[in-house]
Amino acid sequence: MDVLSEKYTEEEILKKLRKKLDERRYIHSIGVAHTAVSLMMAHGHAQVAEDKGLNEICLAYTAGLLHDCAKCLEDEERDRLCEKYHVELTQMEKDHSFLIHAKLGAVLAKEKYGVTDPQILSAIRYHTTGYPNMTLLEACVFAADFIEPNRKMLDCLPEIRTVIYRDLPKAIYLILKQTLVHLEHRNQPVDENSLKAIEFYKQFA
Ligand SMILES: [Fe+2]
Ligand SMILES: [Fe+2]
Repeated sequence: MDVLSEKYTEEEILKKLRKKLDERRYIHSIGVAHTAVSLMMAHGHAQVAEDKGLNEICLAYTAGLLHDCAKCLEDEERDRLCEKYHVELTQMEKDHSFLIHAKLGAVLAKEKYGVTDPQILSAIRYHTTGYPNMTLLEACVFAADFIEPNRKMLDCLPEIRTVIYRDLPKAIYLILKQTLVHLEHRNQPVDENSLKAIEFYKQFA
């Protein structure tokens, strides 16, 4: 499938990712890419688009592949790259460093993988927290990250995987709700974007 990079082919991107991610994360990334594509096929505009939906499929594939490109960095390397590219972090991100990979990932997708499409970069940027009224691409990547086939099985997954192909906003609500319950259970604070997102998606419950 085509990746929307100005510098690299699909093969080159896969090779680079394989070097930067551990085996589990690499397999997850491929799973997210294909799942994001399938969600885009279900909810996209192929029937009315001039290109029969090809571009939106490539957008979903590229964003899915690269969404976790900053996930497996050593702490030092991560901090160095944040400084180099002037990635501004909120207190929440500083306190919970796993959140950083989304923001930094959007920067690295551009700087290291030659992806300049702002829609893709935004989908990477918000894939962990979500935010209110996401674009279709952002929603597909956010949801694919949660439901892709290699994910650890959760009680809520079968329902979400069924609902998601006919009612994406409702599935997003269910995912956000599950994430909130999970964080509260572990006594972890919830990112402001997720709180705003669940407030918004509540209307589709
Ligand atoms: Fe992630
Ligand atoms: Fe992920």
